[in-house]
Amino acid sequence: MSKRPVWIDTDTGIDDAFALLSALQLPNIEVVGCSAVSGNVELEKTFKNCRNVLSLAGREDIPVYKGADRPIMGEPHYAKNVHGENGIGDIEIPESKAKVETMSAYDALYECAKKYNGELVLVAVGPLSNVATAIFKYPELVKLIKEIDIMGGSVAFGGNSNTTAEFNIFGDPYAAAAVFKAGVPINMFGLDVTIQAHLKREEVDSIKEMGNKVTDFAYAISDPPMALYRMLGIGDILCLHDSCPLIYLNNPEIFSGKLAGVYVETQGGITLGKTVSDVFVKTDELFKVKNAQVMLGVDREKFAKIVLETLSKY
Ligand code: RIB
Ligand code: CA
Repeated sequence: MSKRPVWIDTDTGIDDAFALLSALQLPNIEVVGCSAVSGNVELEKTFKNCRNVLSLAGREDIPVYKGADRPIMGEPHYAKNVHGENGIGDIEIPESKAKVETMSAYDALYECAKKYNGELVLVAVGPLSNVATAIFKYPELVKLIKEIDIMGGSVAFGGNSNTTAEFNIFGDPYAAAAVFKAGVPINMFGLDVTIQAHLKREEVDSIKEMGNKVTDFAYAISDPPMALYRMLGIGDILCLHDSCPLIYLNNPEIFSGKLAGVYVETQGGITLGKTVSDVFVKTDELFKVKNAQVMLGVDREKFAKIVLETLSKY
């Protein structure tokens, strides 16, 4: 089976970094490009983090492009309480020596999609500002991108930015609304499944035993989110939200979901950025187009085993 070409759009924070490190070691996918977006922290930092994590993993050959420094409407929301001031737990890693790409993320994604002629898979693990802007600029992208695998939203879990909205969707609700209506097949990995996709304390501790610069980095950045989850009473676990779409592309069999209509609230006073779906209820005219495979379950043991296997390859 040939490797599936994958473009990762990321607001490189802690779980994004884990997702990148795993993606580079998954046998069935090839990361052919990345784009940075404002999200967990400012764009300059997410761009730097993405470059530096790829460099740490020995993959300075993968180009990284800069995208949106803010949502298409409204002001940026950051998540420094989770990811630290620099986005990767305030851990410092060496500066990448890769060429600094000057093409915009939108133009680079379009050129890459044309090169792969309909086979490019887009994984979006941050606010959807870049994805929406690229589609606005190049409408033919909806025919050139095979699928969009999105970490974002929730259909039953509620929110993590507030009561109803998940961070990536809340970070740019208007962009998300446009992407969910764009017509590209979507696999949605919302909090419903990504909260299940976690490492337990002893599994995180096993990363420390792997003992190299990449895994030492992974272990070091695991601490801030785990401390937050403990403080919130969620448990002594590390939720790897952003790893879900990547692990799915390599091992779809460990995930389960349902085709449904999913749309983003943009008018709500208290529900702005909520993903609304008919996945559990009798549908109605508003949801007649089933635009997303909503992921609802994952075999956690197998997920954790695959993640640890990828990290052990460094
Ligand atoms: O809600 C989790 C998502 O928000 C993840 O992508 C995390 O990196 C943050 O961006
Ligand atoms: Ca992210």
